[in-house]
Amino acid sequence: MSVILRLTDVVKVYGSGDSEVCILNHVGMELEAGEVVAVMGPSGAGKTTMLTIGGALQRPTSGTVEVLGEEIQDLSQSQLSKVRREKIGFVFQGFNLLQALTCYENVEYALGLAGQHGKHAKERARNILELMGLGHRMDKYPKQLSGGEQQRVSIARAIANNASLLLADEPTASLDERRANDLMGLFRAIAQDQGVGILMVTHDLRAHRTADRILWLEGGDLRKTTHEEVAAHLA
Ligand SMILES: Nc1ncnc2c1ncn2[C@@H]1O[C@H](COP(=O)(O)OP(=O)(O)OP(=O)(O)O)[C@@H](O)[C@H]1O
Ligand SMILES: [Mg+2]
Repeated sequence: MSVILRLTDVVKVYGSGDSEVCILNHVGMELEAGEVVAVMGPSGAGKTTMLTIGGALQRPTSGTVEVLGEEIQDLSQSQLSKVRREKIGFVFQGFNLLQALTCYENVEYALGLAGQHGKHAKERARNILELMGLGHRMDKYPKQLSGGEQQRVSIARAIANNASLLLADEPTASLDERRANDLMGLFRAIAQDQGVGILMVTHDLRAHRTADRILWLEGGDLRKTTHEEVAAHLA
């Protein structure tokens, strides 16, 4: 199995002097190709922080971060953005779709950023939207779509560049039961069929059932937990 993301001994300290807070205290984890792993824990525990460090959006204070076997913590900003463009897809809670562009253009634009242009990119954008069940919505603007549809556009955009690593921050937060289930089914399929490694932060009981493994972050420590333990904790 190939490791998509590996954090080793990762420390993240915010602030300085008296206001220094250690959010991640020697955290380690591995995410393999085809896996869906959930990260849970109390609000403010550092889940988003961990996701952004794994996603090359910010550097750890110390420790190593490997994406597809390449250590990224010491790369320059421009090298980091290249890693993000080529290897990583993000799904954020607010979807972050560009409102002035249609669904199709949102995906095409993301491909352009990843260096894919022309006929191939157009075809890829169309295929991926069809795969997401949005073939009939391609020319609509985000505000003309339901929350679930916007969510699917944001996933289409995230995986359009053939990302190996998909990071999702509370992806089901604004979805109803059925949409949340659909989304989890989609994540499963993307992981299985395309060998993508998916790391998702969630507070959602429905979502963690989909995960192969659950990690619990609290007090700076990341540890394994079980579905039963989480259910008992949330009950
Ligand atoms: N850039 C920053 N500078 C200083 N402190 C920060 C920064 N980003 C986050 N923090 C602090 O670090 C802690 C962890 O934040 P983070 O957003 O990672 O938590 P979280 O687990 O994602 O919480 P939630 O479940 O509420 O989204 C919080 O106390 C937050 O205020
Ligand atoms: Mg968060």
